[in-house]
Amino acid sequence: MALPQPSDDRTALVTGASSGLGVHFATQLASAGQHVTLVARREDRLNQVAEDIRAATGITPLVVTADLSDLESRSRVAEQVASSGRWVSILVNNAGLSTSGPVAASDPEAEVTMIRTDVEAVAHLCSTFVPPMVENRTGAILNVASTAAFQPLPGQAGYAASKAFVLSYTHALRSELSGTGVAVTTLCPGPVETEFGEQAGFTEEETHLAALRYLYVSPESVTSQGLAGLAGGRAVVIPGVGNKVSAWSGWAIPRRVLLPLLRSQHPAMQRGA
Ligand SMILES: NC(=O)c1ccc[n+]([C@@H]2O[C@H](COP(=O)([O-])OP(=O)(O)OC[C@H]3O[C@@H](n4cnc5c(N)ncnc54)[C@H](OP(=O)(O)O)[C@@H]3O)[C@@H](O)[C@H]2O)c1
Repeated sequence: MALPQPSDDRTALVTGASSGLGVHFATQLASAGQHVTLVARREDRLNQVAEDIRAATGITPLVVTADLSDLESRSRVAEQVASSGRWVSILVNNAGLSTSGPVAASDPEAEVTMIRTDVEAVAHLCSTFVPPMVENRTGAILNVASTAAFQPLPGQAGYAASKAFVLSYTHALRSELSGTGVAVTTLCPGPVETEFGEQAGFTEEETHLAALRYLYVSPESVTSQGLAGLAGGRAVVIPGVGNKVSAWSGWAIPRRVLLPLLRSQHPAMQRGA
């Protein structure tokens, strides 16, 4: 299954397009001739990404500033796309964040904001943009989860559970949409060099732990593998051999064995220990 053909009345909507993976998704989609809609909170960053894409590809992106943790703000995304005269034929639910540290030391507001962004927004945007795809018998949805989706993760409990939601939800959505002409894929990256680690509160040293070094895949490669998997009809894409092994281990190793190991190794569980 190929990606939907570019067309004047269609757009590829990428959330979290102001940094990291989202910039590469949007740039790669525009380079393939797709009109792109960029969504995130930081308007200055989105405008700069839009300008870079216009200069590189000749495509002028639609910039939509929205806080995806907020129901009303999310609802306005669809209104702004509709008033641009396009419908969303490709949806990349990429925006996301993590907290770090034990639940016993967590900030309730930060936990809820993460779950609203990582979980609620994914379901909200799929629910909003899938119907026109089905009606037009073409569409593609790439939901970004993580290798953290394959097992619980002490030290990032809410994040791993959120990504497990994305993985489960996307498998079910894929099954529901089978035969409709709409492609559905979950992308599960391992560690990638973006603003994610700092935003999650990890120190430079924690982000670059020796044990993780061999798992890193470049952001360009993660996004191009994700889009290729979507175009190729794959259910799940896990970039990098080490990350495939890690995801398989998370799924296959009994939790009574795995969780004590993860808890003892997770840097956020060692802080203040
Ligand atoms: N980097 C990794 O190691 C890694 C590993 C596995 C999975 N992932 C997943 O990959 C996805 C992209 O992350 P990244 O690595 O590219 O991180 P990033 O550089 O921190 O980018 C995160 C993006 O999400 C947006 N975002 C965060 N909260 C938002 C909100 N409330 N409303 C709207 N947009 C919001 C940010 O934009 P604004 O701040 O401008 O709103 C930013 O554009 C995430 O879903 C993440 O969970 C990342």
